[in-house]
Amino acid sequence: MAKQSNNPSNIAVIGMEWGDEGKGKIIDFLAEKADVIARFNGGNNAGHTIEVGNSKLVVHLVPSSVMHKNKLGVIGNGLVVDPRVLLNEIKNLDKSKIKITPDNLAVSENSHVILPHHIEEDKKAGGAIGTTARGIGPAYTDKAARIGLKMYEFVDDVLFKKRFGSEEFYPQYKEYAQALKPFVTDTSVLMNNALDKNYRILFEGAQGTLLDVDFGTYPFVTSSNATAGGVCTGLGVSPKKVQSVLGVCKAYKTRVGSGPFPTEITGAAGEKIQKIGKEFGSTTGRQRRVGWFDALIGKYAVMVNGIDSVALTKLDVLTTVEKIRICVAYKYRGSIIRNFTTNMKILQNCQPVYEELDGWWDDLTKVRAYDQLPNNAKKYLRRIEQLLGVPISIISVGPKREQTIVARNEFLF
Ligand code: GDP
Ligand code: IMO
Ligand code: MG
Repeated sequence: MAKQSNNPSNIAVIGMEWGDEGKGKIIDFLAEKADVIARFNGGNNAGHTIEVGNSKLVVHLVPSSVMHKNKLGVIGNGLVVDPRVLLNEIKNLDKSKIKITPDNLAVSENSHVILPHHIEEDKKAGGAIGTTARGIGPAYTDKAARIGLKMYEFVDDVLFKKRFGSEEFYPQYKEYAQALKPFVTDTSVLMNNALDKNYRILFEGAQGTLLDVDFGTYPFVTSSNATAGGVCTGLGVSPKKVQSVLGVCKAYKTRVGSGPFPTEITGAAGEKIQKIGKEFGSTTGRQRRVGWFDALIGKYAVMVNGIDSVALTKLDVLTTVEKIRICVAYKYRGSIIRNFTTNMKILQNCQPVYEELDGWWDDLTKVRAYDQLPNNAKKYLRRIEQLLGVPISIISVGPKREQTIVARNEFLF
């Protein structure tokens, strides 16, 4: 389906915070009109949830368009791929009558392979960061140290045997390699052909801006570039070709794992949002920490990603919260900070400065048009737009595909 309007023909969908913003849901919603859906970073540390009717799926490696037929999914060179997990995911999707074949999934020959020792190492060393223990950090470490195993080597009998033939895992992994071989290709050629043909493309971000290895709350980050720049390096796409960036942002904030979180809500108020929002990790099942909306983070994500518009998720969860807070500045040693910083000393010792807005009591989960939202919800959205300096194009009021309000269409397909 080639582009026919002035709307963008490709959109990068990027998490604006610490992951789990609802990227999977938004990708699934937009994928209806897309041809190609491409992951560019991370690995199976991601857990993207999709709900359509009574079906619910969490995908970790395969792009979040799997509920749609006739879409091409791409796993780009920027990923680290656990072959066992990918094959299991394909097998499990098959049980849900979703067929993943080399006709609808391409895996980059330049992606890196997660091997058992990466996972062991992550289990031992990842505790302080609270990693997902999936071997992500150690696999990226090997990539940067130039000793990693690329996918093309893995699926080549001779090359794989030469490097790892004496390892205990070799016989099992040789089988995985044979099973994956038909999926492996040069995805940068594939992506650029799709761009040349003006196909509609979604670049599916994993994790989020504050987990980015360069722009996140280092060292409490993942090991890849989750920001928009990662689209280019993680897929072999020129920055000149990315037409639109959609930031996915929760109506409140969450974080799973360790690290600073200035607007964290502790006690009963936090537990209430956590409970209504079902804030448990899609990958590890860990409880997510909950916090108020932080406009400094929002503005920062808009800046480093070049966000054109925002998809705001989980607005329904704030129903019945009497007073809703938005953080507009940090106070640090007597001075006021208005721009986000990744300086740990400041983040760990600052106090958030809040504005307070009145909440609403109406159930939003059946609302399908902006005009039907309660006035106080509209006021909250408008204040966020004002603070972030970009419009909200999508408002999500529930986990299901249909629980979605398109407020502005010009940044979407
Ligand atoms: P992702 O990693 O960014 O794809 O997000 P996850 O799937 O890990 O976590 C988001 C969670 O929120 C999932 O359980 C979704 O089903 C759910 N979700 C997404 N959007 C909404 C929404 O608007 N309202 C509610 N209540 N849940 C949502
Ligand atoms: P999606 O794509 C939320 C967090 C981990 C840990 C840190 C480093 O579903 O939004 P890693 O295993 O990557 O080395 O862990 O990053 N983390 C995520 N948190 N959503 C994710 O992905 C995450 N991927 C990694 O909890 O704090
Ligand atoms: Mg997730």
